[in-house]
Amino acid sequence: MTEFKPRVFSGVQPTGNLHLGNYLGAIVNFVALQKTHECVYCVVDMHAITVWQDPAELTGNIREVTAAFLAAGVDPKAHIVFNQSQVSVHAELAWVFNCVARMGWLSRMTQFKEKAGKDRENASVGLFAYPNLMAADILAYLATHVPVGDDQKQHLELARDIAIKFNNDFSESIVANGFGDAFFPVTEPLITGPATRVMSLRDGTKKMSKSDPSDYSRIALADDADGIAQKIRKAKTDPEPLPSEPGGLKGRPEADNLVGIYAALSGRPKESVLAEFGGSQFSVFKPALAELAVEKLSPIANEMRRLIADPAYIDSVLVDGADRARVIADRTMAGVKDVVGFIRRK
Ligand code: AMP
Ligand code: TRP
Repeated sequence: MTEFKPRVFSGVQPTGNLHLGNYLGAIVNFVALQKTHECVYCVVDMHAITVWQDPAELTGNIREVTAAFLAAGVDPKAHIVFNQSQVSVHAELAWVFNCVARMGWLSRMTQFKEKAGKDRENASVGLFAYPNLMAADILAYLATHVPVGDDQKQHLELARDIAIKFNNDFSESIVANGFGDAFFPVTEPLITGPATRVMSLRDGTKKMSKSDPSDYSRIALADDADGIAQKIRKAKTDPEPLPSEPGGLKGRPEADNLVGIYAALSGRPKESVLAEFGGSQFSVFKPALAELAVEKLSPIANEMRRLIADPAYIDSVLVDGADRARVIADRTMAGVKDVVGFIRRK
């Protein structure tokens, strides 16, 4: 078997309202993985335009996501941070994958069905092909591990299917070009921690999302201390006290969500949080959660504000990251061209 060097890749869309779910489901893990892996973190602006984005807002949102990565502790010198559209291989490789993936595979994607809604005829072609671009993001870097929240599981399975089909369809050419028995790695999803699916603060059965019309449904990473505390105070709950074990959270989605958030922010398992708060009313638990959330999130919000005030610096980080990303992605794309049988300058 061809051995692939361990490498982490992940992306976040610059679509505004970056929230606690993005932080706990993804960004916290981005930071932790830097200790053990070579990491590439991408602001996926080309994914964002699969639905309409106001150009000036898009520019601001690209800088906001970059600032969030840096403020949370991603090191853009030791690793790579860039925005997708600066590295043309993403689009180029996505085209090849448009020709590998099958219509039937993409038709089964639940995120497309949700986002396109009833008016599917009017959805952009890009929204349908979105998972192929995501596979290109990952595989341009031959990434072996991808940290994401639970909602991206199906897209990662599709990326694996694309890698496997490419390796199979072109197996003879892959060998003939000296790439061994596989060109692309079959990527492992990393969906870890107690908060892989943070739910809305207004409805524990709905995912916390950037597009929820209610600001009270999510804690934004840019929220100040008062905003965070107020949203937690107003969060929907039930009238029962907290149970002393996780089993007691069944059928109580709002309670489960708040306990999960507490666990993730404190780096403790839910068991340990409930051992402390079991039997307590929300009138006790919510202030404790608000205090913890402010302690952990306010420094990030402050640092984000400081960074966003210096857009020239943020842009320079992205340009430098893109220059280094391009070296890796160009090498992959040259190999893909040889394997597919395209002619290129050598
Ligand atoms: P997106 O905002 O869709 O680009 O998502 C960026 C990252 O955050 C992805 O890894 C998502 O899986 C993750 N994510 C988004 N919403 C949530 C949520 N409510 N809970 C946990 N992770 C999430
Ligand atoms: N589709 C992901 C999301 O909406 C973002 C994304 C794009 C991504 N490319 C990626 C995540 C590659 C991981 C790896 O959250």
